[in-house]
Amino acid sequence: MREVDRVIAERLSTSVPLIGQISHYIIAAGGKRLRPALLLLVCGALGYEGAQRFNLAAVVELIHTATLLHDDVVDESTLRRGRATANENFGNPASVLVGDFLHTRSFQMMVEAGSMRIMEILSAATNVIAEGEVMQLINMHDASLDEEGYLRVIRSKTAQLFEASAQLGAILAGSSPAVEAACATYGQALGTAFQIIDDVLDYAGNSAEMGKNIGDDLREGKATLPLIAAMQRGTPEQAAIVRQAIEQGSTESLDTVVTIVKETGALQVARAAAEAEAKRAIEALEHLPKNPHATSLLQLAAQLLDRRH
Ligand code: IPE
Ligand code: IPE
Ligand code: MG
Ligand code: MG
Repeated sequence: MREVDRVIAERLSTSVPLIGQISHYIIAAGGKRLRPALLLLVCGALGYEGAQRFNLAAVVELIHTATLLHDDVVDESTLRRGRATANENFGNPASVLVGDFLHTRSFQMMVEAGSMRIMEILSAATNVIAEGEVMQLINMHDASLDEEGYLRVIRSKTAQLFEASAQLGAILAGSSPAVEAACATYGQALGTAFQIIDDVLDYAGNSAEMGKNIGDDLREGKATLPLIAAMQRGTPEQAAIVRQAIEQGSTESLDTVVTIVKETGALQVARAAAEAEAKRAIEALEHLPKNPHATSLLQLAAQLLDRRH
């Protein structure tokens, strides 16, 4: 992971000061570096030790960072990784354009891998992420969104990059199609569980621990799984309050909505959905050899449900 950070720092070089300033601002703030870790763990589990793994791990983190820069503009978020978002600090135009810089820098780096297959996977993944964010935009303030519609969004905006990260590890290792498919499934299921928990934490989490504001989803009128489940399980009155909050997209009723989400057991429903995905991820690992890296992948899926940030 240190090597990944070194590659990222090296590849952020530019003669345009504002780009360096903003990209360092968000990258130096930390973040869990989960996607590069996933790629490296899969490489480790499958016995690939080539230097290309650091390059591609940096690529997926740069793609992730670019989407965060754009996502915070779209979501009008003010806190990320425990500090003011780039849009809050430098403005929307700079955030969008530096996000474009990171995206395109990642494209340059993936070309260096010299593999059409790798470029295919990464270009498809970035494209699907964009689709997911646009789908979510269209769904905003739509209280009739069901679990299926919700899952379609999160598989695209979040799970796709986890899937690509895990699959790339398998490709670098020259795995069989069956192992590659198992890694892709692992990544997709893990990413889905990860986003469901993110959506739970938006109601049940702690802003200081998460490093981002809670209640952002409600303010935006995002019908995430906790709200969908609350509307299904609540009394007609409770459902009406949640529906109205989604349609209006304000945090005025946040406290009431949080109470409803908790009282109706909606958080457990969402956690159970995440657990089912984590189980699917763990099952996919049966196709991998048993070694310490594979054990870490297993623990990652098992411990994801307890994450607080
Ligand atoms: C945030 O991702 C965006 C989501 C998919 C929920 P992370 O929670 O991985 O963000 P960092 O990189 O650790 O800050
Ligand atoms: C994740 O969605 C954003 C992307 C994967 C592009 P969210 O909007 O839920 O992520 P946070 O909560 O801002 O980190
Ligand atoms: Mg967001
Ligand atoms: Mg969120």
